[in-house]
Parts: sequence; structure tokens; C-alpha cells
Amino acid sequence: MVPLKRRKVVSSDTGSTGSDCSGDQAPTKFPQVVLFLLERKMGASRRAFLSQLGRTKGFHLQELFSESVTHVISENNSADEVRTWLDSQTRGESPTAVHLLDISWYTESMRAGRPVEILDRHKLQEQQINEAEVVLFSVPSYACQRRTTLDNHNVTLTDALSLLAENAELSDEDGRGVAFRRAAAVLKALPAPVTAMSQLTGLPCLGDHSLRVIKDILENEASDEVESTKQSDRFKALKVLTGIFGVGSKTADRWIRDGIHNLHQLQESGATLNRAQQAGLEHYDDLNQQVTKAEADAITEIVQEAVVSVLPGAQVVLTGGFRRGKQTGHDVDFLITHPEEGREVGLMPKVVFWLESQGFLLYQKTTRNSYLEVKDGPGRPSSNMDRFERCLSIFKLAKKEERGIKVAVNTVKTRDSVRDHTQSETDQNPQSHSYERHELTNPPAHRRWRAVRVDLVVSPISQFAFALLGWTGSKLFERELRRWAGHEKAMSLSSHALYDNKQSRYLRAASEEEIFAHLGLEYIPPSERNA
Ligand code: UTP
Ligand code: MN
Repeated sequence: MVPLKRRKVVSSDTGSTGSDCSGDQAPTKFPQVVLFLLERKMGASRRAFLSQLGRTKGFHLQELFSESVTHVISENNSADEVRTWLDSQTRGESPTAVHLLDISWYTESMRAGRPVEILDRHKLQEQQINEAEVVLFSVPSYACQRRTTLDNHNVTLTDALSLLAENAELSDEDGRGVAFRRAAAVLKALPAPVTAMSQLTGLPCLGDHSLRVIKDILENEASDEVESTKQSDRFKALKVLTGIFGVGSKTADRWIRDGIHNLHQLQESGATLNRAQQAGLEHYDDLNQQVTKAEADAITEIVQEAVVSVLPGAQVVLTGGFRRGKQTGHDVDFLITHPEEGREVGLMPKVVFWLESQGFLLYQKTTRNSYLEVKDGPGRPSSNMDRFERCLSIFKLAKKEERGIKVAVNTVKTRDSVRDHTQSETDQNPQSHSYERHELTNPPAHRRWRAVRVDLVVSPISQFAFALLGWTGSKLFERELRRWAGHEKAMSLSSHALYDNKQSRYLRAASEEEIFAHLGLEYIPPSERNA
């Protein structure tokens, strides 16, 4: 506890005369107004002169700062500087209600012979910029060291940078893509909107190009580069074509070079599509519509039922964006395991068979587990490919009105009635819109189900924590975790394992917390991994 006297009464910079230690003086004409002139930058003699002047006019001026001061007057100081001074004098307990005023208020009051009304121009500018700068300086350079919630204060800027990132990725310029993603992630982590370039000083991961885009938007409300990218035929075509499940940027690029820019041209071209792409085209509209949390929950129930039916005791965890608290996503990601190592072997085909026999799958492709620690060695830090047993699928999810009672029971019936239903709707609506033939047979508005992308991954319990961390995302967060592991810790992190290159051994972990600890990182919960 600070002694009362020292806490309450502190002196100005230097040179207080000592003659008037209490600062009290009576009588005053304006008892509600207790003034304190800050000597900092004003100088002792000017301060003494101005104080004397004020007292002769009947103002109450305190020599020493105390809690009773109502107005702090300074010259050539910013609000920030005055606050810092006050905090230093009062050990951070500086009163917030005190007016921080420029000398102009004082001289005008002297002239008027009374305290004049406080106008905006009299107030020291409380600079939000400075406030933000204090926080910005503490942004660490790796996204996995930061807490990034979904509460993004810089959506316009991060949307712009993300669009350039996407364009770079679609053009196979991954390096540029990552640079834009990192810049966007830094802005997502800021506690307040950016309003001036000066706030960005000292922030990591903001390269010249990103800074130029930010500057354009701050100054002109838009970036020409972003706008022209958005409007460019190539970008639009890449978006449409890679919007087909199973089509990546390379395929899309090849098609564009063949003059294919949209779905209609693709269908007319007679281009050969693989099974995934056919399904992707068939369910194009559904799969390009965001999946809601309610839909993800409904699918979770179905997957849970499938998994426990074929292997009691097995566990299902919702991962991906939904685990990070997102309310929508482009797909639904699940991780499946069993508490007894080895019991998970052979699980995926059984789950898929169950789902298929219940009519829940419109498409599925299962790939076998190809990860063997001994053979494959440590996970490659630069790759986010993992080798779990995995099923890429498209679910047929009953629409909300149809779900209700028990999702999994009435499916065979639902399937038939859906087929009948859509058939008859088609008959009544032969001219339904759209470029796509499948839309003519499945008018979306009348269908009782929709297609949803679902990823299932099976992990042995020994790798579960790594798989959970790896599949929770965000993608950039994962990338940064691996970069941190490699560059800062000489370790290799994958969704299977963590390998310590210096000790030449694997580091085991039964929880995400343990992995963060191995990496020397503070634990970041899923809801704060939205980098
Ligand atoms: P998603 O692509 O599903 O991203 O991958 P998301 O964060 O859930 O976003 P939306 O909402 O669906 O659009 C989820 C996580 O799974 C990892 C990714 O790195 C990401 O962190 N992942 C994905 C893999 O590890 N391997 C893959 O082959 C695919
Ligand atoms: Mn996802």
C-alpha cells in the first residue's frame, strides 16, 4: 500500500517552490474548478507566471497534483503524454474524469475572467491511434502465438487481402498467397479497426504489397487491384470452375485455356470428368451454399449413430471451422477414433457401408491409411498432407422440416419419397431455370434434402491429439504451427506426430495442450485459432 500522502499528493516534474505545498489557496471565485498546470514542456518560470496570473483572477491553482484537481492544463503535450505523466505520478491510478486541456483554454479563461466552456479544440486529442499502437506492438509474428477470435475488426481489409491470396493460390503462386494470408491474419488479430497507416508500424508479416493495398483502402475506400481482380474474367472463371468439388486450380486452368469459362461451356465441351467432378457438378449449387451449424449438428448425429452402430465405444469429434466456433462452413469435418489402440482398424469401410445402406451418401471416396511411423519417418514440415484413412463424401441431408424426430431411422422411406417427390415436381416445372441439366431434374426449392460435403478421418488414439490439432485449423494457423516447429524448435509437426530433430525422437502427446507445451507455445483454444 502506498502511503496516503505519497499516493494522493505528487509533485510536478521538478522545481516546485515548496512555499505552497498544500496548493490550497482561498478564497476562490470558482470552487468547482481546481486547476493544475503541467510544467513539462512549459517550463518552471512560465508556469509560475501563468499560475500567478490565474490566482489574481480568482482561480484555484494547485501547485501539486492531487485527486482534487479537475483540470490539467498543458502546453505542447499530447493527451497520451499527459496520461503517461499522470500514470507515472499516481502509480496508474490517475483519475479518468479529469479534463486534459490545452493552454488555449487557460488563456481564454484568463481573458474572460472566468472558466470558459470547454470546446473540442481545447481538449487534448485522445489519439485512438496511440491506443491501438500500444496493442499492435505486441502482436507476435507467428499466428500460433496469437489469439485470433472470430471477432474481426478489420473485415474490409482482410476480405481484400484474402481475395488477393485466393487469386494467387488459384494462379499457383503459393508464396504470394501465403504472404497475403499472413498479412490478413495479422489484421484479424488486432483489437480495433485500423484507421491510419501509422498504426501498422512495427507489425509483422505486412509486406510492401499488402501495405499498398491497405493504404489504398484506407485512403480511397477500395483497392484498384482488388477490384480489378474481382472483375477479371480469369478470376471469375477460376472461381466458378474450382467451385466444382474435385476440380483444382490446375484443371481449371487447363479448361480455361481450352476456352471453358463457365459450367455451361464445360457441359457443352464434352470434357471428361472423373467421378468426384461429376458429383461436384451435379450438386454444384448445394455445395456452393454454406453449411450451417444446425446442419453440421444434424450430420454429427448421423455420423455418431453410424460409428457407434459399427463399433461401440468409438468416438466422433466435430473438427474444422465448426470446432473453432464458426456458424457456417464449406463442409463438415469429423475425426473418429477408439480409446483402445488398434480397434479403429477397418472402421471406415464399415461406417461408410452403414451410411450408404441408410441412403445418406450421394458420393464417397475412401482412401486407406498410409502412415507408418517407422517407414515414413517424421512428418514433412512443409506439407499438410496427411495419410489417415479418410473419406471424402457428399451427404444427402434431409431439410430441416424433414429432420425433426429421428434423423437416421426413416431414411429408406425418405429416400423413396424424396425421389417420388422431386420427380413429380419436375413434371410440373419442366422449365426450371439454370445452366445445369441436373437442376432441371432437381429443383432445389422443392427438394426435401440438400447435398453437403463431409470429411471423415479415422485416427488411432496414439495420434489422436495430433490429428485433432491438425484438423481443427485454421489452415493458416496450422501452417504457422508447422513453421514455428521447424524454424524455432527444430521439430517436425504433422497431423500424425511431433518429431524432435535435435533429440532424434518422437514426442508423445495425449492432448492438444501437451503438443503446445512441447512446442514451447502458450495453449490457444480452438475458438482463438481463427487466424
Ligand atoms: P477445411 O478446408 O475444412 O477448413 O479444413 P475449415 O477451417 O473447416 O473451413 P470451412 O469452414 O470448412 O471452409 C479443416 C482443417 O483440416 C485440415 C486443414 O488444414 C484445416 O486446418 N486439412 C484439410 C488437412 O489437414 N488435410 C486435408 O487434406 C484437408
Ligand atoms: Mn471444414
